[in-house]
Amino acid sequence: MRSVGVGALMAGDPLLSVRDLHVRFATERGDVNAVNGVSFDLHEGQTLAIVGESGSGKSVTAKTLMNLLPRSARVSGEVTYGGHDVRALAAAGTKHFFGVQMTMVFQDPMTSLNPVKRVGEQIAETLRYHLGRSRSEARSEAVELLDTVGVPEPARRVRQYPHELSGGLRQRVVIAMALACRPRLLIADEPTTAVDVTVQKHLLDLLDDLRRRRGMSMILITHDLGVARGRADDVAVMYAGRVVETADADTLFADMRHPYTEALLRSIPRIEDPVHHRLDPIQGRPPESIDPPEACAFAPRCAYAQSDCLNGVPELDGLLGLHRFACLHPTGTERGAAAMSANQAAGVTAAGMPVGGDR
Ligand SMILES: Nc1ncnc2c1ncn2[C@@H]1O[C@H](COP(=O)(O)OP(=O)(O)OP(=O)(O)O)[C@@H](O)[C@H]1O
Ligand code: SF4
Ligand SMILES: [Mg+2]
Repeated sequence: MRSVGVGALMAGDPLLSVRDLHVRFATERGDVNAVNGVSFDLHEGQTLAIVGESGSGKSVTAKTLMNLLPRSARVSGEVTYGGHDVRALAAAGTKHFFGVQMTMVFQDPMTSLNPVKRVGEQIAETLRYHLGRSRSEARSEAVELLDTVGVPEPARRVRQYPHELSGGLRQRVVIAMALACRPRLLIADEPTTAVDVTVQKHLLDLLDDLRRRRGMSMILITHDLGVARGRADDVAVMYAGRVVETADADTLFADMRHPYTEALLRSIPRIEDPVHHRLDPIQGRPPESIDPPEACAFAPRCAYAQSDCLNGVPELDGLLGLHRFACLHPTGTERGAAAMSANQAAGVTAAGMPVGGDR
């Protein structure tokens, strides 16, 4: 076993690079194609938001990076971190990489916490195992870390068990654990879905603030496009295991091209909306990931769908790092407007979804 570090990157080189990642699970019902050719780069100090509905492949992508997939997973593609092949590091049993250089915060804090151990001990153990701290050094660093993540009375809290803390405080403890070894990349997988809206905002702001102060990179996984706004440098929108649109955040919010991104944005509350404004949930459900048809996966739910959308999977157009989208009739273009008018006139899309005339 060996440990690995990453020194200074060459100018312009990404910290993390993912190319054509595929993940498949063999199940009794057939193969689940959870991730279908995902590629992205993440640069040092930047945040990439991965956004999509439940089942779109966000967590499987994250777990692949962290080498946390079950044995039933079949993975292909390339993941490099600072030039190192991450899957080769995992296969070689490299110590002090996962959980040190690259760490992850899960949706449910109890996934990462041991219910029968005091929280301070859990943080101290990480510091002793990975960084070789003495018992007393680790104990005082645990108090400092809780203070850093905004846990009040940290010297008292370190002696508490997870069940004695609120959901928000537990998640702060998990963030403290993830930060303990000063990672260069933090993957936050829906870190705030288990807490209420006010706590959610505090935790997201805390993560963003820590990222800036420590110069970390972050992958922020969320089903809520609103969470990415103002916090992410780049956004990748996932649907049915594929990235269907990706761009820098300003471009994506100002100039989105994929009807799914547009639908996601319509489904979130906006500050300027009146209090009782009705949101526009996305009709229908995401497709099955077993034996998907050779068509645009969003077609059954897409108000723009035309017959060509049902004859093959649209490719993600454009160059990596630029605005890319996988759509034949993109919103905000003449083709998109023509498709929408035709569907409104017909009252139905080519995939059979009824369309009203009020969009
Ligand atoms: N161990 C597994 N075995 C079989 N299928 C799996 C396994 N893990 C995930 N999947 C399937 O892979 C697909 C993607 O799952 P994933 O957990 O990545 O979704 P997600 O985007 O994170 O959704 P959510 O927002 O609900 O967390 C889903 O269809 C899921 O059922
Ligand atoms: S317009 Fe066609 S290709 Fe684009 S999202 Fe809709 S169904 Fe898919
Ligand atoms: Mg998930």
